Amino acid sequence: MRKPFIAGNWKMNKVVEQATSYADTLTELVKKEGIDHDKVDIAICAPYLFLSALKVIFLLRGIDVGAQNLHYEDEGAFTGEISAKMLHDIRVECCIIGHSERRKYNGETSEECAKKVKAAIMYDIRPILCVGETLEERESGNHLEVVKKMLLESLHNVTGAEMVKTVVAYEPLWAIGTGKTATTEQAQEMAAYIRSVIAEKYGKDVADRVIIQYGGSVKSSNIKELMEQEDIDGALVGGASLDPEEFIKIIKYDPDIVCKNVKMIPINRNK
Ligand code: 13P
Repeated sequence: MRKPFIAGNWKMNKVVEQATSYADTLTELVKKEGIDHDKVDIAICAPYLFLSALKVIFLLRGIDVGAQNLHYEDEGAFTGEISAKMLHDIRVECCIIGHSERRKYNGETSEECAKKVKAAIMYDIRPILCVGETLEERESGNHLEVVKKMLLESLHNVTGAEMVKTVVAYEPLWAIGTGKTATTEQAQEMAAYIRSVIAEKYGKDVADRVIIQYGGSVKSSNIKELMEQEDIDGALVGGASLDPEEFIKIIKYDPDIVCKNVKMIPINRNK
């Protein structure tokens, strides 16, 4: 059984006061709505600047804190970078790796992503590895090939044991921030394909355990049908995660996520 994983990606948004008041509100909503932490993992991936403050507010509240990037070296002359070791030091639980915006604006390569995935796992940080195709690639019919290449290069030297701990987020670039969601068929087709590529490389047992998220204009109105797809186990939510009232509706996509006996302490994180 794969445990659903809903993560928010704030990207470069908010200032400290907004981040902490959001965290207070989300904490209250998660409690008030009776979210069952055995049924869903929740994370907020925020700018580095807010991570320590969010850790304090979310501590023992069943909401993980994630970063949006990391450096694979532990330390050294890398001005402006933050290492997996540093994130581990403040107990960050997960980290987005290879988001298309970083690949596009920061020239991040799949080779670097592979090193980042390994560094994250070494420091017990759950990597959320992003892959996805452009509109041109989809329209030319190359989308499966493009995603396969990106995925395999980003998993270079990653072992089966490491793969099980890695989350793959399928984010078609044409659906990010555009309000244009992939159809459930398109999202499921790619998620199933990603799982088959993982199965080819690592075997079916590993592939069956990997969490695959969909990302790209996810909101409360489309989350349910996306999550109903066999190979989609979660969502990486950008714009719609910036409002806690909207984000809680996404987390609560299934009435079964809610329990009567509210639990405050998350257990069995499947790490
Ligand atoms: P939007 O949900 O705003 O389309 O962003 C998706 C995304 O890039 C999440 O990482």
